[in-house]
Amino acid sequence: MTDPTPPRGELDGRHIVLGLSGGIACYKAAELARALVKAGATVQVVMTASAEQFITPLTLQALSGRPVFGSTWDAREVDGHANNMAHINLTRGADAVLVAPASADFMARLLHGRADDLLSLLCLARAIDSCPLIIAPAMNREMWAHPATQRNVAQLRADGAHFFGPDSGAQACGEVGEGRMLEPDDLLEALIGFFRPKPLAGRRVLITAGPTFEPIDPVRGITNLSSGKMGFAIARAAVEAGAEVTLVAGPVHLATPRGVRRIDVRTAQQMFDAVMPLAPEHDVFIATAAVADWRPAHLSDQKIKKDGSKVAPLFELTENPDILAAVAQHCVAGRPFCVGFAAESHDLLKHSREKLERKRVPLIVGNLGPATFGRDDNTLVLVDAHGHRELPQADKLTLARSLIADVALRLEPAAR
Ligand code: CTP
Repeated sequence: MTDPTPPRGELDGRHIVLGLSGGIACYKAAELARALVKAGATVQVVMTASAEQFITPLTLQALSGRPVFGSTWDAREVDGHANNMAHINLTRGADAVLVAPASADFMARLLHGRADDLLSLLCLARAIDSCPLIIAPAMNREMWAHPATQRNVAQLRADGAHFFGPDSGAQACGEVGEGRMLEPDDLLEALIGFFRPKPLAGRRVLITAGPTFEPIDPVRGITNLSSGKMGFAIARAAVEAGAEVTLVAGPVHLATPRGVRRIDVRTAQQMFDAVMPLAPEHDVFIATAAVADWRPAHLSDQKIKKDGSKVAPLFELTENPDILAAVAQHCVAGRPFCVGFAAESHDLLKHSREKLERKRVPLIVGNLGPATFGRDDNTLVLVDAHGHRELPQADKLTLARSLIADVALRLEPAAR
């Protein structure tokens, strides 16, 4: 799962109907049910007869804490309704129906509006405007790639269904390719994002993150303690807000947030070379990377050895390009909207304001660097030409969402 961990209670108050159709990925649905409950959702599980061949309703009942429904003819009460209409009652008041796993056959039935089992029946009977249908496909790669399935996917999308996945990778059948269901943590992240407001829909956001590494010789280099967590959290928040996101990352050990295009680089020069051609295609540029200011002027192609003289070698340094300042300098009519970070050890406001002016950017996000590197929480101050605003201490994802909401408000409505 993407770092940082999402704040607890992300799905508080949400009611999710979790539908399982037949497939080996049903075992992942058990973990998904648990993750949804842990995130605060109430989860009503509905299973097809095929799903019950793979996992028992008892397991899902234990994990969701609610009775599992499977038959159209099940006369049990649903949330106080005793009218023997589970297919209606189950989705009334639900925030979404998530079918995970969705088999090829189940998707074909949905497409035709078939209603011959409880799950397809309730999908048809849900209020289409207030209860979205989300499909997490799970099938063999050939089944997924088949024109019939692809035709069904296109038509289901046109009918308003949303798709999470599928993923690519090793499949239960031993083949490798596209069609496996997303992992439970990825589905959770996607669902949390699904419910977030979309102020950046149609926008493109470019982000730099992490440290850079400036090699001295084949085994040594100059770097810093940046973990990249803030930049990765901002990338996730921007995707949640509906943006198309490109993340240029220095050497970090973090999973790529779902839906983000990631470009890995090592040195400041590589970061500069990756960013500059991309910047004009983006609406927003957020520079969170802790770019090394200097690099060794000469790279030794062999490991530098001690020569026995006890005299330490001296390294000549040369300045790296300032990526943020260069992007800001090439802005056309304020696009991309540039956001810089200032990681300071003292006089945060003073240094942030200096950077705002020196780099000619409309917004600097200040934070006390050494205290926050690698941590999961932080405190930020947003500094612009008019003043400053503090974002109080919170986990980095919460701060990233506040920053993204703030940036969205600053964009020219005309360009939206
Ligand atoms: N930055 C950049 N390219 C550089 C140096 C910095 O894009 N070569 C960006 C950072 O990503 C950050 C902002 O500029 O958004 C400020 O970075 P920081 O290292 O705090 O500032 P410097 O310009 O390096 O100034 P100083 O080291 O003197 O504080």
